[in-house]
Amino acid sequence: MNTTALTPLTARRGGPLQGRVRVPGDKSISHRALILAAMAVGESTVTGLLESEDVLNTAKAMSALGAKVDRDKDGVWRVRGVGVGGFAEPEAPLDFGNSGTGCRLVIGAVAGCPIKASFDGDASLRKRPMRRILDPLEKMGAQVLEQAEGGRLPLTLQGARDPLPLEYESQVPSAQLKSAVLLAGLAAPGETTVIEAEATRDHTERLLKHFGAKIVSKPHGELGRRITLQGQPELEPADVTVPADPSSAAFPMVAALIVPGSDVVFENVMMNPLRTGLFTTLKEMGAKIEVVEKRDGGAEEVADLRVTTSQLKGVEVPPERAPAMIDEYLILGVAAAFANGTTRMRGLKELRVKESDRLEATADMLRVNGIAVEIEGDDLIVHGKGSVQGGGEVKTHMDHRIAMSALVMGLASEQPVRIDDSAFIATSFPDFTGLMRGLGADLA
Ligand code: S3P
Repeated sequence: MNTTALTPLTARRGGPLQGRVRVPGDKSISHRALILAAMAVGESTVTGLLESEDVLNTAKAMSALGAKVDRDKDGVWRVRGVGVGGFAEPEAPLDFGNSGTGCRLVIGAVAGCPIKASFDGDASLRKRPMRRILDPLEKMGAQVLEQAEGGRLPLTLQGARDPLPLEYESQVPSAQLKSAVLLAGLAAPGETTVIEAEATRDHTERLLKHFGAKIVSKPHGELGRRITLQGQPELEPADVTVPADPSSAAFPMVAALIVPGSDVVFENVMMNPLRTGLFTTLKEMGAKIEVVEKRDGGAEEVADLRVTTSQLKGVEVPPERAPAMIDEYLILGVAAAFANGTTRMRGLKELRVKESDRLEATADMLRVNGIAVEIEGDDLIVHGKGSVQGGGEVKTHMDHRIAMSALVMGLASEQPVRIDDSAFIATSFPDFTGLMRGLGADLA
């Protein structure tokens, strides 16, 4: 990505947002479908893959590791996998661009193979913590040959010749960490177990089952799970259909809630309960989000949702909801700014290590547009007044979700909102501006 020339964009208040849309495929499932297909023996297909920069980097990494990855003219992806433990040593460093998910999951998958591979990313990814995954992977036999300070990228990993199974009690609620250990555990004999104190998104577990692995997930404590994978399966090729990403739907949804007179239907949105914390919160705030039709979308339940403009009120968001909406606090901050009253979002520590420090970035985005915000420890407090002045320029810090949140805010604020750079939107939602303009949004 060209990071030297910035591409600013401005959002202005206009008419209502109206129409039916299908946002692109889920990012988490798209990465995992490619990786597991590459670890199966034979040809898998992926329909509805999110073709964003993050996911395309994972597809390139799978090719570099020896899988055959092709896209048909009709948009179906075909992946001929090399089997568990079968990755070939890549000739060049694997570049994951902006993507923590792609990078951490592939590091896990490589850790169980007897190959050496180097991993790198852009300036944002180079700042993000990798030690959290390297610690358990070293226990499984992988060796870190080179690393930047604190185990950050760029790093070189020697995967284990004889990987060891592990029982790992995760100290951070992270699906990427859980997934890295499970993907490494595929190549180890016996059982690999991950214990998480708070359940995080379970797409890796669901897809592992779909590809024929034996994996059992049991409740652990009040909120957690104990996940046990039987190692060294022969993964069977599978067909994966990727539902629409609820984390991408979140942006036009909040736009429809705050732009007067709006009425938008979102088709085929994934309703995995470990991803729908934002919908729960918005409903508590008074949002009109109606499930038009719910159906079984294969490995995940999906629904069509109708969203109409709503007067929102401030609420308290409990910390235990964070894993189910960890990527949605920025856009919730925007909804909270348009609500009447104070919204307190509790327990947001993990937001500090995302594509940017999202706790500070959310506060800054709102403050430059006239909203009173406080950060108290790991809590974010937004004082909504029912309307937003706007007029600010928001720094996006190489973070797609800041860019989209700020633009949504500008669609309903009194003065336009400008972002310094729209380029990173392509990491997760390449046609965001096209889809929003199609609904009637003024983005220029
Ligand atoms: C993801 C997990 C979350 C989330 C990210 C996608 C995944 O990260 O923020 O966008 O697909 O596993 P953490 O595991 O770091 O919480």
